[in-house]
Amino acid sequence: MSILITGAGGYVGQELAAGLLALTPASTTVTITDVNEPAIPASASQHADRLKCVKADLTSTKEVDELIRADSPFETVYILHGIMSSGSEADFELGMRVNLDATRYILDRLRVTMSGVKVVFTSSLAVYGPAPSGFIINETNFPPVPSSSYGSQKLIIETLVTDYSRRGFIDGRSVRLPTVTVRAGAPTQAASSFASDIIREPFHGRKAVLPVGKDTELWICSPGTIIKNLIHARTVPREAFGESRSVNLPGLKVSVHQMLQALQEIGGQERRALVEEKYDAATDKIVQSWTPQFSTDRAFQMGFHADVSMLENIKQFASSFV
Ligand SMILES: NC(=O)c1ccc[n+]([C@@H]2O[C@H](COP(=O)([O-])OP(=O)(O)OC[C@H]3O[C@@H](n4cnc5c(N)ncnc54)[C@H](O)[C@@H]3O)[C@@H](O)[C@H]2O)c1
Ligand SMILES: *[C@@H]1O[C@H](CO)[C@@H](O)[C@H](O)[C@H]1NC(C)=O
Repeated sequence: MSILITGAGGYVGQELAAGLLALTPASTTVTITDVNEPAIPASASQHADRLKCVKADLTSTKEVDELIRADSPFETVYILHGIMSSGSEADFELGMRVNLDATRYILDRLRVTMSGVKVVFTSSLAVYGPAPSGFIINETNFPPVPSSSYGSQKLIIETLVTDYSRRGFIDGRSVRLPTVTVRAGAPTQAASSFASDIIREPFHGRKAVLPVGKDTELWICSPGTIIKNLIHARTVPREAFGESRSVNLPGLKVSVHQMLQALQEIGGQERRALVEEKYDAATDKIVQSWTPQFSTDRAFQMGFHADVSMLENIKQFASSFV
C-alpha cells in the first residue's frame, strides 16, 4: 500500500508523514513531495526505508504527471500543499496557481490515473466569513462565504472534491482544520502565525509579537489532535459523509488572554514577558474575519477526536524543552 502527501515539506505534512509511518504496517510506503525536496521527519528516521522524498513543483503539469502515474497507484492522497492565508492575500496570482489551479489539475490527474482513489484535502475555517457574535457555526446552519482569496480557493476545491466524489472519480474528504497551535518550527506567512509564535518563541527564549488584541478569540487545535484526525480521515466510511464531503474538525475556542495565562502558568513570568503587543491592522483584519466557535457534532459522529485543553496543549509542546 502506498500513500502520497503533497506539501509535505511543511509543518503539518512532516508531522503527518511521521504519524502515518508509525501507525501503518511495514508494507506501507509513504511518498512525500514538496517544491523543495522534503526532509525525512526526524521522528520517522527509523522508518526511512518506507519513505520516498520527491521534489516537484505542483504548478507544473509535467511534474504532476511524473508524480501521479497509473502504474504506481496510491491508496490515499493527502493534499496539503498551498500558499497560506497572508501569502495568498499578498500575491493573488501565486495563490490561484498553487491553491486552485495545481490542486484542480491533481484531482483530474487522479481521476484519469487512479479512479476512486481516496483523497484527504486540508481545507480551513477560512471558508467562513464572520458570523454574528456568539453564533456557533456547523456545516449546515451558516453559508461559507470566505473573506479571503485563500478561503475562496479552499471552498472551490471543496466543491470539486464533493462533485468528483459524487461522480465516483475519487473518494474525497475535505477536512476544515482549525488554526494549528502550538506549531513548532519558524513563524509562517499565515495571518494566524502569532497564535503559535506567542507560545513557541518564548520557549526558545525569543521575543514574539502579538498583532491583535488580547480579547481576540480563536478556534485552534493542537498538532497532536490534528495528526490523529488526519490519520482518522482516511478510515471514515464514505457513506458517513452524505451529500457533502466537507467536515469541520474538532477544535478549541480560546482567547489570546487565556493563551497568555496558560503560557505564564506553564512557562513562567519570564516567558510571558517575551510577548510584545504590537497591533497590526492588516493581520487583525484577517483574524477578526474568522469565527472562533464551531459545533463539531458531525465530526464526532464520524469518530474524529476532540482536542485537548490549552494547558495540556502547552504542556505537550513544552515537554520537548526539558
Ligand atoms: N497550519 C494551520 O493552522 C492550518 C489551518 C487550516 C488549514 N491548513 C491547511 O493545512 C495544510 C498544511 O498546512 P501547513 O501549516 O503545513 O502549511 P505549510 O505552509 O507549512 O506547508 C505547505 C507546503 O506547500 C508547499 N508548496 C507551496 N507551493 C508549492 C508548489 N508549487 N508545489 C509543491 N509544493 C508547494 C510549501 O513549500 C510548503 O512546504 C495547508 O493546505 C493549509 O492550508 C493549515
Ligand atoms: C446545525 O445546527 C442546527 C441547529 O442550529 C441543526 O438543526 C442541524 O442539524 C445542525 N447540523 C449539523 C450538521 O450538525
